[in-house]
Amino acid sequence: MKSPKLVLIGSLGVLASAAKSSLSPRGNACAALAASLPGDVSYPNTTAYIQSSYYWSDQQRETHPQCFVTPRTTSAVSSVIQILTRHNAPFTVKSGGHSPFAGGSSIANGVTIDLVHLNTIEVSADCKTVSLGPGNRWINVTEILDPLGLAVVGGRDMNVGVSGFILGGGISFFSGMKGWACDNVRGFEIVLASGNVVYASPTENADLYWALRGGGGLNFGIVTRFDLAAFEQGTMWVNSLTFPGTENATIISLFQNLTIQGMPQDPAAHALLTFSSSPSGENRAIVNLFHATVPSPQNSVPAVFEPFQTLPSALANTSSVGDVSKYLKHYATPYGGRWTWGNVILAANFSQTVLDEILAHWEERNAALINSGVADTSVLVQAIPVNVIEEMQKNGGNALGFKPSGGPLVLVSFPTSWTDPRNDKLVEDSTRKLIADVETTAKKYGVLNPFVYLNYADSNQPVQRSYGDENYDRLKQIARKYDPQSKLAQLWTGYFKL
Ligand SMILES: Cc1cc2nc3c(=O)[nH]c(=O)nc-3n(C[C@H](O)[C@H](O)[C@H](O)COP(=O)(O)OP(=O)(O)OC[C@H]3O[C@@H](n4cnc5c(N)ncnc54)[C@H](O)[C@@H]3O)c2cc1C
Ligand SMILES: *[C@@H]1O[C@H](CO)[C@@H](O)[C@H](O)[C@H]1NC(C)=O
Ligand SMILES: *[C@@H]1O[C@H](CO)[C@@H](O)[C@H](O)[C@H]1NC(C)=O
Ligand SMILES: *[C@@H]1O[C@H](CO)[C@@H](O)[C@H](O)[C@H]1NC(C)=O
Ligand SMILES: *[C@@H]1O[C@H](CO)[C@@H](O)[C@H](O)[C@H]1NC(C)=O
Ligand SMILES: *[C@@H]1O[C@H](CO)[C@@H](O)[C@H](O)[C@H]1NC(C)=O
Ligand SMILES: *[C@@H]1O[C@H](CO)[C@@H](O)[C@H](O)[C@H]1NC(C)=O
Repeated sequence: MKSPKLVLIGSLGVLASAAKSSLSPRGNACAALAASLPGDVSYPNTTAYIQSSYYWSDQQRETHPQCFVTPRTTSAVSSVIQILTRHNAPFTVKSGGHSPFAGGSSIANGVTIDLVHLNTIEVSADCKTVSLGPGNRWINVTEILDPLGLAVVGGRDMNVGVSGFILGGGISFFSGMKGWACDNVRGFEIVLASGNVVYASPTENADLYWALRGGGGLNFGIVTRFDLAAFEQGTMWVNSLTFPGTENATIISLFQNLTIQGMPQDPAAHALLTFSSSPSGENRAIVNLFHATVPSPQNSVPAVFEPFQTLPSALANTSSVGDVSKYLKHYATPYGGRWTWGNVILAANFSQTVLDEILAHWEERNAALINSGVADTSVLVQAIPVNVIEEMQKNGGNALGFKPSGGPLVLVSFPTSWTDPRNDKLVEDSTRKLIADVETTAKKYGVLNPFVYLNYADSNQPVQRSYGDENYDRLKQIARKYDPQSKLAQLWTGYFKL
């Protein structure tokens, strides 16, 4: 693995132009960027600006920067950071643009650094490492790797960006075998607040390497290359089962047993459980089962998923085999609509009473929002089994702080969408109330894990504090070491800051 030495970038040209414009008001940051990166700064109502304004959620799309800058190289990213800090210009960074909140990777009036052109995908000669530019989306990665019989621990939705996904954790079809995406990064190339480019790996800047594995990007710098561990992967097996919502107790207990017993015995297994509702009030429980290897014969069911197959009540039951790209396309959530979510983590062995109370909180909210057609909401249940937590301990562990001794966990999130901006406050407040109610229930029965998952967090959830005092303090110290003047904290707007 080549790990580039620390490079000091700051060509005389950049410094000279930045020095001149530092006399001007900060509004001239866009002009200074345009002078340094001719052709890569766009203004409202131009084709380039409209292309960069393409985000997954409406709230992000509606948040308009003064200009977008689209650097094409690591050294251009370095120039951009130096110019922005010199101008004290508020900015943000966009990779795949899949944060849901206004300001997640968009900014009103400031500068948005759109990484779209940093989209190289390089497979090492020994096929053990895949190096990704930070502007890639997962589909473009899998479309290159599938034909080579390779995979990385990456996204499950085709359009999600590689950067936010990895920096927040990254739950993948392959997490059972390998841990989350952040656990499978060999090294990060990153541009710091100073404009210096450094490499963070288990042997170089190991503290920064630890922080970038779950700590998010915006306190540390702009990652310009992710070097990921690759592995051999052929086609995978997928089964989707739909049950009436009234089967919830049975389905949950099977899912808990899968998390606690099944998955540790078969790391190739992965699963998602969704409760969805409809205005008619008929709930559904949808179980999606994934296996990284195809059973033999192909139309059989991997033993770990057998317990789900004996239920007589399935309303739909489809199995298929295909490459990773196929499922990234299949499970993609279309663009558009207003979105919010939030998450709560429970000990995997929570009781039937806890489930009943959580679903009752959800139903109460559905009565207020869904049945009147205001919003659409579901409950997404995901496993964090002990085999995944064990994989998180490699390379010095990650910033998230899970320990195998803490036992298996279940992540519950509440993705919610609506269309009318006049309902923003109503829906967002109701999501917050739902999260608070679920936390209260979980706490009351002693099954609340304080951890909050960054990638599914509501904008006001205290993500990094939830990693525990020790990890939070360590993240703060590392941020201070690599950005002593706290420039990023001051200028990079967005959520989940230390
Ligand atoms: C439809 C959908 C499906 C999803 N599926 C999954 C899933 O299967 N598993 C999972 O774990 N999560 C999933 N997520 C959550 C997803 O991982 C997060 O929303 C993630 O932040 C998206 O990354 P992005 O690059 O697209 O987002 P962006 O909004 O572009 O960026 C997210 C954050 O990272 C910062 N950032 C971006 N690029 C960089 C960089 N190069 N260096 C430093 N900071 C940077 C941004 O400023 C922003 O704060 C899904 C989300 C959606 C909307
Ligand atoms: C862009 O153009 C639209 C009309 O096409 C106009 O309403 C809007 O004000 C313009 N925006 C800016 C920022 O100039
Ligand atoms: C990424 O993949 C999509 C879907 O296959 C394709 O339309 C797009 O052109 C690709 N982008 C790049 C930069 O290759
Ligand atoms: C869960 O199942 C019970 C019993 O069948 C049913 O009364 C309840 O409405 C179900 N809850 C949901 C959210 O579907
Ligand atoms: C629980 O999981 C184990 C391991 O997969 C399996 O042998 C057992 O049958 C499951 N029990 C139930 C009730 O599903
Ligand atoms: C789904 O279909 C498979 C193959 O036809 C069958 O073995 C299995 O029992 C079915 N599962 C359910 C829950 O109906
Ligand atoms: C649930 O799991 C936790 C963590 O593994 C354990 O401490 C606790 O005793 C378990 N509770 C029950 C009721 O089994």
